[in-house]
Amino acid sequence: MASTTGFDWSVAWEERLSRSNHQARLRSRGISSEAFWDGFSRWPELHRYTGYPGKALDCVLKAVDPGTSVLEIGAGDGAFAVPLARAAKRVTAVEPSAGQVARLMENAAAAGVKNLTVLRSRWEDVDGPGLGLHDLVLAAYCFQMRDIRSALQRMYEAAGRSLFLVHFVDHDLVEALHQVTGDSEAGPDYVFLLNILHEIGHPASASILTRDYEIPLDLQLDAFAYSHGLSAEQRGALRRHLESEGKVLSSGGMLWVRRWYKDAVIRLDKEECYR
Ligand SMILES: C[S@@+](CC[C@H](N)C(=O)[O-])C[C@H]1O[C@@H](n2cnc3c(N)ncnc32)[C@H](O)[C@@H]1O
Repeated sequence: MASTTGFDWSVAWEERLSRSNHQARLRSRGISSEAFWDGFSRWPELHRYTGYPGKALDCVLKAVDPGTSVLEIGAGDGAFAVPLARAAKRVTAVEPSAGQVARLMENAAAAGVKNLTVLRSRWEDVDGPGLGLHDLVLAAYCFQMRDIRSALQRMYEAAGRSLFLVHFVDHDLVEALHQVTGDSEAGPDYVFLLNILHEIGHPASASILTRDYEIPLDLQLDAFAYSHGLSAEQRGALRRHLESEGKVLSSGGMLWVRRWYKDAVIRLDKEECYR
């Protein structure tokens, strides 16, 4: 479906993605996305505090029953894949990072999950038709894909019934990180995904969900230091910013940051009347 405004969301996606903090960080360190995720060993620890995937997982679980086959793209350490495998007939997870695959397998084993198959690959390199149709296809926060239009089209084609995408809306520290680093940009948000799906003829709906949580200050600063490459000076500046905004609190002999984060759950059902 051609855009009526002349604005090309896929081209804008590629530009925003390339300016994003994550891509800039990969370039400055000279590493691949896989190496970044291999090394992000505190990622599982972050989950304990951030309330993720929380309500987003609940939305997907409502569309799953014991007969459902699921394909998850960019499954990471299994925050969705493991609980989905417990509710579904089977889950196929596509994940390129060896470190994340190891965490995923560990979490699946700990949960006693036996109906999960892992394919270590980028989505762009997967033979979609070879994987077959899955009742439900899910992709969450894994959209480091330059040709997003074709990646989304292939996700749509792999979905027998429903496609779910979970992506970024906003968080409380976007502006603070930009100020501290001088150039940090969050990357293209969920509005791009909605518009690109619309452009390729697959209109979808979105729900926006908010997570309010408290996280240990040091863990939060360590995570930002890894993901944004903060220097010691920038880390100190961010800490002072958080304190001056009244976002730091003391509890149980520790310092915590009070935060909020908004995720979008985009859903497309193939049997909808607009199909
Ligand atoms: C932020 S984590 C999200 C993990 C999981 N989806 C979740 O929501 O907890 C991003 C994951 O996407 C994976 N990823 C990045 N680029 C990818 C690609 N092109 N194809 C498939 N997965 C990708 C990364 O290796 C990483 O594990």
